[in-house]
Amino acid sequence: DKGEFKHFMLKEIYEQPDVMAQVLEGRIANGHVLEQAFGVDAKHVFDQIKQVQIVACGTSYHAGMVAKYWFEELIGLPCMVEVASEFRYRSVVIREGTLLITLSQSGETADTLAALRDVKSQILASLSICNVPGSSLVRESNLCLMTNAGPEIGVASTKAFTSQLVALLLTCLVIGRRHGLSSEQEKQIVTDLQNLPTLTRTILDLDEPVKAMAEAFAEKHHALFLGRGALYPIALEGALKLKEISYIHAEGYPAGELKHGPLALVDKDMPVVTVAPNNEMLDKLKANLQEVRARGGELFVFAGCEQTLKSEEGMQVIALPACSKLMEPIVYTLPLQLLSYHVAVLKGTDVDQPRNLAKSVTVE
Ligand code: F6R
Repeated sequence: DKGEFKHFMLKEIYEQPDVMAQVLEGRIANGHVLEQAFGVDAKHVFDQIKQVQIVACGTSYHAGMVAKYWFEELIGLPCMVEVASEFRYRSVVIREGTLLITLSQSGETADTLAALRDVKSQILASLSICNVPGSSLVRESNLCLMTNAGPEIGVASTKAFTSQLVALLLTCLVIGRRHGLSSEQEKQIVTDLQNLPTLTRTILDLDEPVKAMAEAFAEKHHALFLGRGALYPIALEGALKLKEISYIHAEGYPAGELKHGPLALVDKDMPVVTVAPNNEMLDKLKANLQEVRARGGELFVFAGCEQTLKSEEGMQVIALPACSKLMEPIVYTLPLQLLSYHVAVLKGTDVDQPRNLAKSVTVE
């Protein structure tokens, strides 16, 4: 039931603050993540991990890409990420002590499941981060962490993605204890996660300005999404959402790659969406935005603070509330979901059931 919402996708976008709380439910005690939440063998497995290999498809793959930044930056654990359809068909080298993490909303994605089955005998253990209890991936993995996002009806994934990000951060914390992450750091991150419902509610309050921004896209045929660091996968995810539901051709790029090709595409008909939180990459990102402006490109920026980036001719800025660096990928996802939603509504497409797509891809 869509209730007061016009589409399931919008309802699911708005469920995210509650979903953030549901992922944490029963998994935290005294400011720390409970290892038992991952299964009975969790402690034994976590003690032996030397690296992480993430495998997933589509939006779930983007969540995996964010996690790579977290695993390597926060706890110094090598982390590789690959789309399942590539991983399963090449000769992969699995090193000793590899935890295979599969990410999947449905738990039934054919390529992801096949990837798990293919390397089962070579890995230390498998962990499924999944939204459907009892699904194939959950049943066939050694450990699991349910994302508890509730049924996702809209074909374009929204709450499943952000709940995967929270679950991945919990995973990073329990493994991180063995790799130099202090109890204090863990407590701080848990507090940040506990504040997410409140924070994400204030982000959803930006719906009106985002909707106004969407009008600039309805007549466009292409769009570019830029981000740096852990926000690069968020740019990819923003582009995927836009193409899926509005059928506008969109590409996500790491902002630093702009001059290595995509800048050639930039003109007044190519809107450039940028996720620009107030972090140490902001100055570099601003230089990239200048390059776009100099070519007459129109900028649509989600920024961390009004002081650092202001709306001006050719640049619309929506400022988001401040948040800690680790929360940025989660927080900045929401306005991009709203943007693609409003563009699709303006274009009159079937938001919940985009053409040619299925909710669960059980054949390769
Ligand atoms: C995009 C989308 C797809 C899925 C992908 C994987 O909005 O929904 O890209 O993310 O098909 O599905 P799961 O997560 O069920 O394995």
